[in-house]
Amino acid sequence: MTNISITAKDRVFVLTGAGISAESGLPTFRASDGLWAGHRVEEVCTPEAWKRNPALVWEFYSKRRADGAKAEPNPAHLALAELEARLGERFFLCTQNVDDLHERAGSVRLVHMHGELARARCERECGRPPVEDYAIYRRLDEVGRCVCGGRMRPHIVFFGEIPLEMDRIQQEIASATLMVVVGTSGSVYPAANFVHWARQHGARTVYVGPEPPLNASAFTYVVEGKAGEALPGLFQVE
Ligand SMILES: NC(=O)c1ccc[n+]([C@@H]2O[C@H](COP(=O)([O-])OP(=O)(O)OC[C@H]3O[C@@H](n4cnc5c(N)ncnc54)[C@H](O)[C@@H]3O)[C@@H](O)[C@H]2O)c1
Ligand SMILES: [Zn+2]
Repeated sequence: MTNISITAKDRVFVLTGAGISAESGLPTFRASDGLWAGHRVEEVCTPEAWKRNPALVWEFYSKRRADGAKAEPNPAHLALAELEARLGERFFLCTQNVDDLHERAGSVRLVHMHGELARARCERECGRPPVEDYAIYRRLDEVGRCVCGGRMRPHIVFFGEIPLEMDRIQQEIASATLMVVVGTSGSVYPAANFVHWARQHGARTVYVGPEPPLNASAFTYVVEGKAGEALPGLFQVE
């Protein structure tokens, strides 16, 4: 079995994708012919979709909220939270996932670059921050409005929008000596470029997942396996 050693000098940057939540029962996105839970992303996950049919967008994300609430963190989420407990501020987690399984496993130093299911924000980008929102909406007229009058939308980065927290992510990558990427197909940018940025700074790079990602050749090691089986015990902290 592969072992990745982590010394006192290492700083670890972890990027996760939908694959890490697959063993918790949440469907990945490319696994099913480019459909996410039965939908084409253009129908539910773009600014145009929101303009055309906000009811369908909220129906989709309401369903994702309901599924997310039923799911539990799996051994892969737990292994990353344990690694953070040992490394403290030398650990940083960036997830592309919008579920909250990492925080429920105990991760703290994390950002959701593609947003969070459990929040909503004003569609007008009026400057008011996102608010907590776990509601399951059945009809559009149940969805609240911002004080500015704009309709509340999911706090999700739609395809074509700019990911969140990019400054912090770039800083953390620049100081990392080890990058670990888990369960992401390497097809969504800019996340698919993180491995290249890490290498430019001289970091070791490791991919964990059942099949090589599109950007596999950029990794120092590819550990083939399911995240929940491969991650626990993968790291040897010295
Ligand atoms: N749970 C979620 O929050 C969720 C779910 C689906 C899609 N999305 C969104 O859709 C986009 C899809 O991009 P993506 O690259 O994250 O996912 P993706 O669906 O494109 O790719 C999933 C990857 O996970 C791998 N995988 C499947 N089972 C695995 C397992 N048990 N362990 C490890 N890896 C496994 C697959 O080989 C594949 O490479 C993301 O930006 C994300 O925001 C989020
Ligand atoms: Zn507003």
